[in-house]
Amino acid sequence: MSPHETARTSQEAQETAVLHDIADILRCPHCQASLDHDAGRRVLRCAAGRHTFDIARQGYAGLLAGDANTGTADTAAMVAARDAFLGAGHYRPIADALAAHAADTTAPGVIVDVGAGTGHYLAHALEAAPGRLGLALDISKYALRRAAKAHPRAAAASCDAWQPLPVRDGTAALVLNVFAPRNPAELRRVLHPQGRLVVVTPTVRHLAELVTVLDLLSVDDDKKARLDAALSPYFTPLDARSVAFRMTLGHADAASVVAMGPSAWHTDPETVRGRIAALPAPLHVGAEVTVSAYAPR
Ligand SMILES: C[S@@+](CC[C@H](N)C(=O)[O-])C[C@H]1O[C@@H](n2cnc3c(N)ncnc32)[C@H](O)[C@@H]1O
Ligand SMILES: [Zn+2]
Repeated sequence: MSPHETARTSQEAQETAVLHDIADILRCPHCQASLDHDAGRRVLRCAAGRHTFDIARQGYAGLLAGDANTGTADTAAMVAARDAFLGAGHYRPIADALAAHAADTTAPGVIVDVGAGTGHYLAHALEAAPGRLGLALDISKYALRRAAKAHPRAAAASCDAWQPLPVRDGTAALVLNVFAPRNPAELRRVLHPQGRLVVVTPTVRHLAELVTVLDLLSVDDDKKARLDAALSPYFTPLDARSVAFRMTLGHADAASVVAMGPSAWHTDPETVRGRIAALPAPLHVGAEVTVSAYAPR
């Protein structure tokens, strides 16, 4: 075996080992029975014995129910842009705020990130919570390929956040939801009674300088109130913190932050590139999000 093949095989073995360890908290998306890792094979099998799920070569479990709508999955280009931007550390204060919640979590269970993208925030949370396992859930195979490799204690699985999650009741100590879709009833169901939900949403001032000059989608200013209202049947709000910071972005960073966000669905990349090229460099851009914590009712 070449050194390259040996390295690949050991990475694959590590990803499968985390899935093996986390299989206890997974459940079958079809019949809700518990799932077991079929040792030696790259499959998960439900206790009812009727359903099996492949573990992709890239290390994530395929737990999407057949009728899921994958139309909102981040594309390869969006995920590559997100990886570049987050990897450069521009959103570090957001990762730090999530890591602080992970460090404070005392409930038993794993950290589940719903709509985890590349697994960037989950990896930071796991670094602050030694010994915990993490599960990245997303519907984009491009995101999951990265999330499966994001941290030695993180596993990744595909699922549709609008459908029942492939996670057993009460097994999550902490659920993260960062700029991603959320189904309140399901987030409540998977959370341990002493667990916490932490949601990150952009404020109206997030990337404001770019929104104006590049004509991007803007956020409505009652987003936080709508979030609390949607969660209120299942969750009690705890603290909500504004995380605001300034970023110095080159043109490539600005192109990435547009390409990874919701505006990517509505703008032509060439047009955006042209507009960015006409701007001064570097750009000074404000980021502002709300990091809201909730306790289950
Ligand atoms: C704006 S990105 C945020 C990703 C990550 N939380 C971050 O902040 O880096 C939204 C993520 O939600 C995922 N997504 C979209 N629709 C979904 C669905 N129905 N179920 C699960 N994930 C979904 C996308 O693939 C994408 O990775
Ligand atoms: Zn089943």
